[in-house]
Amino acid sequence: MSLAVEPRGVTARVPGKINLELVVGPRREDGYHELATVFHTVGIYDHVTVSEADDWSVQVSGPTAEGVPTDSSNLALKAAKALARRYGVDRCVAMGIEKNIPVAGGMAGGSADAAAALVACDALWGLQLTRDELEPIAARLGSDVPFLLHGGTAIGSGRGERLAPVLARGELHWVLWVSNSSGLSTPAVYAECDRLRAEAGAPVPDPTPSGDLVAALRTMDTAAVGAALHNDLQEAACTLYPVLEDVLEAGTTLGAQGAIVSGSGPTVAFLVGTQAEAIDLSVGLAARGPTGDIRRATGPVAGAQVVQHVTVAGGPNATG
Ligand code: C5P
Repeated sequence: MSLAVEPRGVTARVPGKINLELVVGPRREDGYHELATVFHTVGIYDHVTVSEADDWSVQVSGPTAEGVPTDSSNLALKAAKALARRYGVDRCVAMGIEKNIPVAGGMAGGSADAAAALVACDALWGLQLTRDELEPIAARLGSDVPFLLHGGTAIGSGRGERLAPVLARGELHWVLWVSNSSGLSTPAVYAECDRLRAEAGAPVPDPTPSGDLVAALRTMDTAAVGAALHNDLQEAACTLYPVLEDVLEAGTTLGAQGAIVSGSGPTVAFLVGTQAEAIDLSVGLAARGPTGDIRRATGPVAGAQVVQHVTVAGGPNATG
């Protein structure tokens, strides 16, 4: 006999992202910038657990929990409430976020948690929505949230919320330098980019992707991917966070095949050819690079997905 038992708690896992290419166009009237970007998920994960409760709440734990809000400004909590409102769900959740993705690091950690909250609440409430159905709510929450619902490697346009998949075969190996002192505010980095451009006085064209990166991703030629990495926000991030120049130089000197500030920074991603090279580079960076946490990850990986249901009758049922 099978019992149709509704889950009482659901955990979703979600990775962080890096931008392999980020071309920033002019500032729009709504304050956002038109983008042409290539997003790529890497295997550093947050876990978001939602359980039925009488009122809304959020608790944050884990190595990178510091600085994440636990009030109504938390983006994952906003995501759960937005989903409930949109689908007429008259229930609340107690949310637990276990954080590993750097906070204010340019890896879309807050957006990732929002994507995970959507997927987890969808399962908890039995809505059975597709990723495409969740996308409009995701896009209203933040520019990167739709991508974190899907994961993989994708081209983003508009303010980053319009997606097209990229054919990428195989894996890329990354070493990440993560600041262990302070992060960077995304609006501040965009504003600095605008300021530097105004100072230079050159016109800002509409953003177009280079084509080289997407071609290199098709074959996963590490050297070609490394050469095609590009981030228009990098100069602004380095101006606001000068040690990043030293970090980039240290990784390149130690043999990385590509080096890029991730999104609005300050996380820096180094591309290497193999797991063994990743270990060598991380050891070298830890010994000789500027102070920071050194992490290794591969990409692409899947976006937000449910990994565990807890039913009222039994213990946890792992689903992924
Ligand atoms: O969409 P999200 O809330 O994540 O964006 C955070 C901030 O980043 C925006 O308020 C804006 O300052 C900046 N941004 C931008 N152009 C984009 C995406 C983000 O200027 N395409």
